[in-house]
Amino acid sequence: MIRLNENYLKLKSSYLFADIAKRVAAFQQQYPDREIIKLGIGDVTRALPKVCIKAFHKAVDEMANDATFRGYGPDQGYGFLREKVAEHDFGARGAGIDADEVFISDGAKCDTGNFQELFSNDITIALPDPVYPVYVDTNVMAGRTENFTNGRYQGLVYLDGTKANGFVPGVPDVHVDLVYLCYPNNPTGAVATKAQLGQWVDYARREKALILFDAAYAAFIRDESLPQSIFEIEGAREVAVEFRSYSKTAGFTGTRCAYTVVPKNCMIYDAAGKAHPLHQFWNRRHTTKFNGVSYPVQRAAEAIYLGDGPRQVREITNFYMSNATMIRGRLTELGYACTGGTNAPYIWIDAKMDSWEFFDLLLHGAGVVCTPGAGFGKCGEGYVRISAFNNPKQVSVALDRIAGALRGHAPQPAGDATPSVN
Ligand code: MLT
Repeated sequence: MIRLNENYLKLKSSYLFADIAKRVAAFQQQYPDREIIKLGIGDVTRALPKVCIKAFHKAVDEMANDATFRGYGPDQGYGFLREKVAEHDFGARGAGIDADEVFISDGAKCDTGNFQELFSNDITIALPDPVYPVYVDTNVMAGRTENFTNGRYQGLVYLDGTKANGFVPGVPDVHVDLVYLCYPNNPTGAVATKAQLGQWVDYARREKALILFDAAYAAFIRDESLPQSIFEIEGAREVAVEFRSYSKTAGFTGTRCAYTVVPKNCMIYDAAGKAHPLHQFWNRRHTTKFNGVSYPVQRAAEAIYLGDGPRQVREITNFYMSNATMIRGRLTELGYACTGGTNAPYIWIDAKMDSWEFFDLLLHGAGVVCTPGAGFGKCGEGYVRISAFNNPKQVSVALDRIAGALRGHAPQPAGDATPSVN
């Protein structure tokens, strides 16, 4: 008899964005003439930068010729891309990362989800709440939690993100072995300062813990004083792994390319307390289960670092950030307290009502899709996330419609809201 991994029975029946897509499809079926504007899942709408398209075409042409054709590439990624990453994303910011510490992959979602395979099943895990659901669900699947009770999986340490702490929870006063951090944050758009990340690095060094740092939205940081990488913090190399993605940075959601950085002096411990470099185990896992990202895709990713690439990528992130400014400004005017949207493409809105109710209000009243905060955890209840990934015209129409739909629901006159500092 084929037996189930019963940890899957502990999971909610579907992934948050699948659940939303189902509701939107049902709405569309019921009202086929209503035009829907999607500001829910963070999916990009702009074409790939021209430099990427050019490099992509050139690489495809190479694949069309026996003399330049490439079969399997290195599992960890081609040197040409790993070197550019080390130099431009880290070296240029004073964070010393070597090319062979960079593992190219097809997505940060897979990497953040897969990385937990390296850990013992009895570790203690801390996660922020609200949180990107992948970190939680993959640990549930692996059997590191008890059941879902009162909105939380028993066995995890939740770090409450609240208005009071600006959605940047501090270190816990208990021991944990692993912590997931994401800044700029998905879903709240909050950002952590160097001092705040420094406290996490100190904590991890003291507790022999590991930080899994998701920096998928680093390219949206506009305040130069903020860290874009945890490796800008002294000592982080010993206790942190970082995930990055080209999805939002360069429009690769459908093209797929990302990377994970595992410093060679970052340690993990066996049951006897003996330290081992974590790098060798991620390398082992990667080479066993992954055959690399396609050559043309890696060439397209490399192009963002060369010639006009940085300017073109900046132009794309600016495009989405001007939507973020528009969304945050309008919702604030309507009397809603907002977090995010200044160094992140997400705006986290205090809905002052049940988050699924607010989701339904926007869907039915405005034909606009947002993401209910409750889908990101208990602390997300009463909030919704609006994504800046769309075209300005669509965003502007969506905001007019939202204003209409919220008439009579707005919490208080403009000016009474207290937007957080982030
Ligand atoms: C989101 O909307 O939270 C993201 O698009 C999800 C993802 O990157 O997997």
